[in-house]
Amino acid sequence: MLKISANRTSSLLFRFNRRSFTKLAHESSPAALRGDDDQEFLPQMPPFDYTPPPYDGPSAAELLEKRQRHLNPCMSYFYRNPLFLVDGKMQYLFDEKGRRYLDAFGGIATVSCGHCHPEILEAIFNQTKKLQHTTALYLNRASAEFAEALASKCPGDLNVVFFTNSGTEANELALMISRLYTGFHDIISVRNGYHGNAGVTMSATGQCNYKYNVIQSGIHHALNPDPYRGIFGSDGPKYAKDVDEIITYGTCGRVAGFIAEAIQGVGGIYELAPGYLQAVYNSVRKAGGLCIADEVQSGFARTGSHFWGFEAQGVVPDIITMAKGIGNGLPLGAVVTTSEIAKVLTCHGYLNTFGGNPVSTAGGLAVLKVIENEKLQQNALKTGTYLKNQLLALKEKHQIIGDVRGRGFLLGVELVTDRELKTPATRETLYVMEQMKDMGVLIGKGGLNGNIFRISPPLCFTREDADFLVSTMDHIISKM
Ligand SMILES: Cc1ncc(COP(=O)(O)O)c(C=O)c1O
Repeated sequence: MLKISANRTSSLLFRFNRRSFTKLAHESSPAALRGDDDQEFLPQMPPFDYTPPPYDGPSAAELLEKRQRHLNPCMSYFYRNPLFLVDGKMQYLFDEKGRRYLDAFGGIATVSCGHCHPEILEAIFNQTKKLQHTTALYLNRASAEFAEALASKCPGDLNVVFFTNSGTEANELALMISRLYTGFHDIISVRNGYHGNAGVTMSATGQCNYKYNVIQSGIHHALNPDPYRGIFGSDGPKYAKDVDEIITYGTCGRVAGFIAEAIQGVGGIYELAPGYLQAVYNSVRKAGGLCIADEVQSGFARTGSHFWGFEAQGVVPDIITMAKGIGNGLPLGAVVTTSEIAKVLTCHGYLNTFGGNPVSTAGGLAVLKVIENEKLQQNALKTGTYLKNQLLALKEKHQIIGDVRGRGFLLGVELVTDRELKTPATRETLYVMEQMKDMGVLIGKGGLNGNIFRISPPLCFTREDADFLVSTMDHIISKM
C-alpha cells in the first residue's frame, strides 16, 4: 500500500500527467483552478474502453423546465447546473454530451455491481421477454429461487423472505411485524438515522430534515453512538444505557422493537460505536422486543469486511430489512425474518402487487451471483480500505478534513472549519463537491448540516479510481 505523508503527498501519491489534462476538464474547471501552472497537475481519470452512443433527445434545459413545472417541488438536485446523465457502464456515468464521470456515489449506495452490468441486464431482459408480471397468487420461479438464495446469505434462522419494492416498504413491514408479534407498541430508533418516508418509518427517522409534522406514536429516539461527536466517544455500551433509560422511563417497560443502521448512511456515514448493538439487543430482548437491522445501505457486501453491516458488531437480528444494493438499481426491497416471527402475518393476507415480481427478483438473483463471482465483497474490503487510508492521509494534510470514517465502500469525509469545535464546513463542502464534478468525480453529500461527503461507489471501483478521487479532492482543497 502506498503510504503518504502530508508534505510528500503530491510527489508520491498522485500520478499527475501533463497529457492527462483533458479538454473537457479544462473547459469546465473554474477559473480559480485553471492557471497555466495547474495544467500539469490535474489528476487523470483512469482509461475506460466504452463510448456511449450519441444522445439526441431533449436538452438538459428543456428537462429542467419540465421538472420544475411538473415534478415534486421539494425535490432538490445536486450542483448549480443539475447534471443530466444519459448512459452508464460499471463505475462510470456519461452526460448528454458524452462526458465521462467517475461515479463514487452509486445512485446513493444502490448500484452495487456496476451500471448496466451485462449479466444483470441479461437476467432482466430474459425474464421480461418471457413474463413480466402475473401475481404472487401464482407460482413464480424467479421469486422462489431468489428467496432461497437470499435466505442462504442470512445468519441463524432468518430464512423467510417478504419482498417489497423499496426500503421504506421493507421497514414499514418490519416495524408492523414487530408490533404484531410482541403485542407492544413502542419502537426505539437512533437519532440521526434514516428509515424511510412513510408514516412509521418517517417517525423512526431521527433527523428533522426528513420529517414532516406527522403524528409520531410510540417512537423514541436514542442517543446516537457517534464516535466523532458523541458524548461517550467510541464507548458503545455507554450509549446503550440510553436505550435502557428509554425503556424504563419512556415506555411501560415492554417494547415492540429496536431499529438501527449499522452505519448511518443518509445521516453522514456514522458507524455505531463498537459494542453498541450487542448491549442494546440484550436490553431490547429483555423488554420483549425484536431487533431490526436496517441493511438498506450497509448490506450486500458494501462494507467489505462482512456481507451485512450488523455482523461487524457480532449480533444476529430478528429481522433484516434490505433494498438499494439488492437490485443494483431495480425497485426491490425485502424483509427477512424467522418462520416463527413471519407466522404472525398469517392471520390476514399481506399482499404486495409488485413485491417479488419476476423481473426484479430475476435481477436480484443475478446481483447475488455477480457479487459472488466477481468477488465484490473482497474488492470492497481491499480497495475500500485502500481508499479510506488515502483519505486518512489527506486528513493529515488538510485541516478542513475533520474526520474520515466508515468501512469498505461506505465512507464519509466530514469537513469542518475548526477541528476543535467541529464546526460544519457546509459552504466549503458544496464548493468542493461542485469542483469535483467539474473535474469528473461524482460523490454524495449528507449529514444534518450537509458537510459530510458520502462515498458509496459501485463495488467494482478500482484502486486507480480511488487514486483519481483522492487526488482530485486533494487538488481542489489545496487550492482553497
Ligand atoms: C438506511 C435506509 N433505510 C431505508 C431507506 C428508505 O429506502 P427507500 O428510499 O428505498 O424507500 C433508506 C433510503 O435512503 C436508507 O438509507
